[in-house]
Amino acid sequence: MRPLILALALALAVPPLALAAPATAAGPGSGSAHGPRDLRDLARKHRISIGSAVDVAALRAEPDYRTVLNREFDHVTAENAMKWESVEPERGVHTWDDADEVVRNARRHGQRVRGHTLVWHNQLPGWLTRGVADGTIDAAELRTILREHITTQVRRYKGKIRAWDVVNEALEEDGTLRQSIWLTHLGPGYIADAFRWAHRADPHAKLYLNDYNVEWNAPKIEGTLTLVKELQAQKVPIDGMGFQGHLGIQYGYPGDWANVMRRFADLGLEIAITEMDVRMVLPVTPEKLATQAEYYGRALSDCLSVKACREFTVWGFTDRHSWVPGWFDGEGAACLFDENLAPKPAYETLLATRRVSGR
Ligand code: XIL
Repeated sequence: MRPLILALALALAVPPLALAAPATAAGPGSGSAHGPRDLRDLARKHRISIGSAVDVAALRAEPDYRTVLNREFDHVTAENAMKWESVEPERGVHTWDDADEVVRNARRHGQRVRGHTLVWHNQLPGWLTRGVADGTIDAAELRTILREHITTQVRRYKGKIRAWDVVNEALEEDGTLRQSIWLTHLGPGYIADAFRWAHRADPHAKLYLNDYNVEWNAPKIEGTLTLVKELQAQKVPIDGMGFQGHLGIQYGYPGDWANVMRRFADLGLEIAITEMDVRMVLPVTPEKLATQAEYYGRALSDCLSVKACREFTVWGFTDRHSWVPGWFDGEGAACLFDENLAPKPAYETLLATRRVSGR
């Protein structure tokens, strides 16, 4: 099934609000007298940001979703609404409503925003991929189109976006540059160009490279570090490294992650965990939830152990709206809250997570 259709099917499968689960004993606010009340409180205490990806349809339609999002998180990322196919579905026709809604809600609730994402090989508009494939868009024009896209989008939200995922998933698993539409037609220089154009459009936004499996895949770690050093040698304005953090309990925890973060921090970059979730093979069991809780806790504690790590963002906060079941067959339950917005053990573990070493 196509992701969009699947997403729709999932949305329709949401139980009516009347079926919401009874409040659990261990709900938010049940922390000890000195413990944090909720994730926002935890974030404040640790002086980092704790964020979530936002599903705009749910934000608009589900008051309970909105309530938990705005109560728990001080940082947000649009899950899909800022991707190119969402903001320019027809060439030259921009549709900003959904992206604007995420930013508006964030500003109303004192949340910072991560812009996601400017250059990626996925979720590109059809007019662009078709035009490149049939040769009606040549390399020179493609470069102009990319520059205009970045400039237009970054300018629109100038001053409202703390950090941009400028280039998403630029590397293959073997550490070489991904053979994307961008590399193939524009050559490796597209990465430096993208950062420079974004910087020109909003000089104060923090500009990130963002990728998955950099938590532990050695060739990808080395390839990414090399890329960052090359960019820095060319004085490209890169500020941060984003680790997506899509984990699964069946794969184990990336035990060296804090050290990997430190290697990027040592290059002068700030660090963010940008898309954390911990999926499992269904069905859910208490043991799996306990392992999931441990992984979430370790990830936060790894971030807290690195001075430069300043954002911990989850890729959706509720199993009611998670990309996992649509993308990983037979897997799910990857979020901090269940379908009824009851906090799971992972949520409680995050609240109890303390900084282990100083920063
Ligand atoms: C996912 C969204 O969650 C889905 O709704 C969409 O269908 C596909 O993209 N890495 C990323 C994110 O950088 O943008 C992806 O988001 C998940 C993997």
